[in-house]
Amino acid sequence: MRHNRTVMVAANWKMNLKVGEASRFMHRLEEKIAIRQNVECVLAPNFLALQPISVNLDRRKFRLASQDGFYNDFGAYTGEVSMAMLHDIVHYSIIGHSDRRHKFNESDDVLAKKVQAAIRNDIIPILCVGETLQERLANETHHVLHRQLSSDTLNITSREMSVMVIAYEPVWAIGTGKTPTPEEAQEAMAFIRKQIKDLHGDRAAKYARILYGGSVKPDNARTFMELKDCDGVLVGGASLDSDQFASIHNTAYKIAQMKDL
Ligand code: 13P
Repeated sequence: MRHNRTVMVAANWKMNLKVGEASRFMHRLEEKIAIRQNVECVLAPNFLALQPISVNLDRRKFRLASQDGFYNDFGAYTGEVSMAMLHDIVHYSIIGHSDRRHKFNESDDVLAKKVQAAIRNDIIPILCVGETLQERLANETHHVLHRQLSSDTLNITSREMSVMVIAYEPVWAIGTGKTPTPEEAQEAMAFIRKQIKDLHGDRAAKYARILYGGSVKPDNARTFMELKDCDGVLVGGASLDSDQFASIHNTAYKIAQMKDL
């Protein structure tokens, strides 16, 4: 079990990069990213690109995540890829990204099953939570975060929760160039940590990592990673530019040194 919260920089490539392009891009990143003991760099390519990338990955620099994974291990679920199939390939699985919640209508019931399936197959969930603009304007942010966290981590033990990663991604900040103020982001992430404590206890709240995601760029990454309850970032658009992503990774290294990790 980890004794500190290593800073994480995660790249969610979403539905971008064909297999060959993803491999070439990974090699470009490899050249620009240094080995840093106290920063964990996670790449989340599409399902097809995961396997070839896993064969060539420099494991001193990168870990892999899937962008999703089905909750049953095997069976008649045409088109799905299960956590059991991902077990040998990834360390992490992004679960409940706002694309899944809002474009594919994934419910908290489904997401709770995916979280459990990941853990059952030794994959650490990166569970995404966050409010829409409408919900924020209606002052429902806490309510939404509480609902998502309590439902999606149902039946998870405190020990399991303590290795999980929660990504706070306000839906209105994803791909829009808009971001919460540092105060708003810290407030939401502190609330998330408090929820983890109330639901799963002190130890889980102390060790679970919380990431910020939503329009993270080289020029604002430090602002978020400096926050007390922020343990790293989940990057979309800027993760598809090797210079920008390498710059964010470098910022994470400086923050990790500052936080003495
Ligand atoms: P952007 O960084 O493009 O806003 O995407 C964030 C995201 O959804 C990461 O999962």
